[in-house]
Amino acid sequence: MVEAHRKESIVRARYAAGAKERAEKLCCPVEYESEYLKLIPREVIERDYGCGDPSRYLREGETVLDLGSGTGKICFIAAQIVGPKGKVIGIDMTDEMLDVARRNAPVVAERLGYTNFEFRKGRIQDLALDLELLDRQLKDSPITNAASFLATDGLAEELRVKHPLIASDSIDVVVSNCVLNLVEPKSKRQLFDEIFRVLKKGRRAVICDIVSDEEVPEEMQNDPELWSGCISGALTEDGFLQAFEHAGFYGIRILKRDTRPWRTVQGIEFRSVTIEAFKGKQGECFERNQAVIYRGPFREVLDDDNHRMERGKRYAVCDKTYNLYKKAPYREFFEFVDPIVDIPLVEARSFDCSRTSLRHPKETKGQDYSATTEANGKCCDAGAC
Ligand SMILES: C[S@@+](CC[C@H](N)C(=O)[O-])C[C@H]1O[C@@H](n2cnc3c(N)ncnc32)[C@H](O)[C@@H]1O
Repeated sequence: MVEAHRKESIVRARYAAGAKERAEKLCCPVEYESEYLKLIPREVIERDYGCGDPSRYLREGETVLDLGSGTGKICFIAAQIVGPKGKVIGIDMTDEMLDVARRNAPVVAERLGYTNFEFRKGRIQDLALDLELLDRQLKDSPITNAASFLATDGLAEELRVKHPLIASDSIDVVVSNCVLNLVEPKSKRQLFDEIFRVLKKGRRAVICDIVSDEEVPEEMQNDPELWSGCISGALTEDGFLQAFEHAGFYGIRILKRDTRPWRTVQGIEFRSVTIEAFKGKQGECFERNQAVIYRGPFREVLDDDNHRMERGKRYAVCDKTYNLYKKAPYREFFEFVDPIVDIPLVEARSFDCSRTSLRHPKETKGQDYSATTEANGKCCDAGAC
């Protein structure tokens, strides 16, 4: 069994070399939008070790965090898409990668006419710990004995709290391109928790990574070449989605899945997928007499809070779920029924979200509702009836 820290050193050494010289074996062909590549220096583009393009899903003005930013290509593309009102932060643990990204940053900034990006040193499974700050502190008080060694944990914890590398609830979109698989198994859970922590409520992660179609056997996981080559640390395609689910995300979906595997090893296929997942289903549930109708096409659906809904039926939902469904990625799948008499949020009772129940139309209209109306002219366009 290769220990966790050894796996990390192997990864660091391999990408340190890949920062200095293009490593052909690490390159998975990806087509980026050519208009965004024009102002990115060649050195950055040719040391591209991504497997997808999360930048396609970004929007103007967003604050973006790129996990394992490498030589900075996705950050430099994102900087153009989010524009001067947005912001991009790249995180990497390998000095040589950060050197290339930082060396090219002023060139990109000059061509772009603004600087809305920066590169920070950290491990993506521990986004609170600023490794450069820790380096500086350790230079001032080096580890010389057991006592100073044991004190380092406390120092790291203090830095996480007082000077977090990435603050909680501060990011609109976490992106990553072919990096999550490189994090050793014991830290994978913490990695997904960290992605969740740094995102603002209601915002999302868009992650491109390599997944496998079968479990990767232990002997393959212990192969340093396969591990650092983005192969044997891959989660299975369903395990990848489940990891987001366990961290508390909702609305998780596959945006892109390569039909052709990037590589096949011992009969196991490894391919690139792009996943989107949202943060923000947590919180209190209030009754405001709202209802939703699942439009289909499936006979029934089950959401990440275990609401099971049959096509075409009116369901009672809490205010939180109602508002979640009104946004991406759910919006297009539902019809929304507002109550005739609004219940202000401050007056709303709590709602039991642990069960799904149907909502009788009288609940949204009011028990005493007995209106009779003339035909609504809007129903017959251009007076055709
Ligand atoms: C396969 S390369 C991808 C680089 C970049 N995303 C791209 O599209 O070219 C993996 C990158 O992630 C970095 N990396 C790997 N594990 C990391 C970790 N646990 N924390 C931070 N960076 C990591 C490596 O240093 C390397 O730059």
